[in-house]
Amino acid sequence: MASTEDKAANKENVSSWKDSIYNPRTGELLGRTASSWALILLFYLVFYCFLAGMFALTMWVMLLTLDDYVPRYRDRVPFPGLAIRPNSLDIVFNKSDAAQYKTYVDHLEAFLKRYNDTEQEKNEACISGQYYDQESETEMTKKACHFKRGSLSLCSGLSDNSFGYRDGKPCVLLKMNRIIGLKPIGDPYINCTVKKDNPVQMQYFPSEGRFDKMYFPYYGKKAHENYVQPLVAVKLLLTKEDYNKELSVECRVEGSNLRNDDERDKFLGRITFRIKVTE
Ligand SMILES: *[C@@H]1O[C@H](CO)[C@@H](O)[C@H](O)[C@H]1NC(C)=O
Ligand SMILES: *[C@@H]1O[C@H](CO)[C@@H](O)[C@H](O)[C@H]1NC(C)=O
Ligand SMILES: *[C@@H]1O[C@H](CO)[C@@H](O)[C@H](O)[C@H]1NC(C)=O
Repeated sequence: MASTEDKAANKENVSSWKDSIYNPRTGELLGRTASSWALILLFYLVFYCFLAGMFALTMWVMLLTLDDYVPRYRDRVPFPGLAIRPNSLDIVFNKSDAAQYKTYVDHLEAFLKRYNDTEQEKNEACISGQYYDQESETEMTKKACHFKRGSLSLCSGLSDNSFGYRDGKPCVLLKMNRIIGLKPIGDPYINCTVKKDNPVQMQYFPSEGRFDKMYFPYYGKKAHENYVQPLVAVKLLLTKEDYNKELSVECRVEGSNLRNDDERDKFLGRITFRIKVTE
């Protein structure tokens, strides 16, 4: 008797559990009627469409206020770091073995492609010693002043395609990182020193190692498409007694307000590299 009762209760349980998924009597699915489900689905559809619409709208409004040509947020203009080409802080080669300095020479040659004299001819011949301000120009695209590799003279790779490496008097190129809106006060020039007793003679190109003011300010990648950074080439006139020694060369940007003595950033306005020439 008791066992049949149990069975009946069991059956009831199973059917009510089944009913909670789908109840054929009321037509409810998971406790809701079809129309109730339809309403819920409709609600969520509208709700998510609304959210997506809001997102798209705010995105669109934000993008409208952005300008490809002028960076949005600019607090004070930072100072530039100094970089060297060939891109190595440890320049070691045997001057009698072309294979050893080939990578340096190839790198310099590739880097100077942009400074091709005939290509640069298309850029402006600007007035030396003056900022090339184009703030008031209505043109969005700014003009660029030309910088011809020919102005690097003995370090241009034109008259001496080994950039002096063959003769053990190698050239390195120095450039300041691009900083949008930077206008150095004063006349920035490069001064390199070698830490040793008797100084190493150096030659600077363009003369006095100056970064001309006409290459400032820079207006940014998009607005200033043809801009080329000014370069200073330094030719280390090493002599026999400098060979087979590791020399530490420090170059700094001097003569302007650009910082070169930051304790934490040793590339800010300066760079130290090692050079060792064997023969
Ligand atoms: C430099 O290269 C020359 C020619 O290959 C070789 O005679 C000379 O021993 C090399 N010098 C050094 C320090 O390796
Ligand atoms: C500079 O470019 C011109 C053509 O645009 C080319 O004929 C010439 O060889 C290039 N010069 C150098 C040094 O690469
Ligand atoms: C270059 O730096 C050295 C060492 O700091 C200094 O003695 C020399 O006067 C500087 N030369 C120029 C042209 O500023």
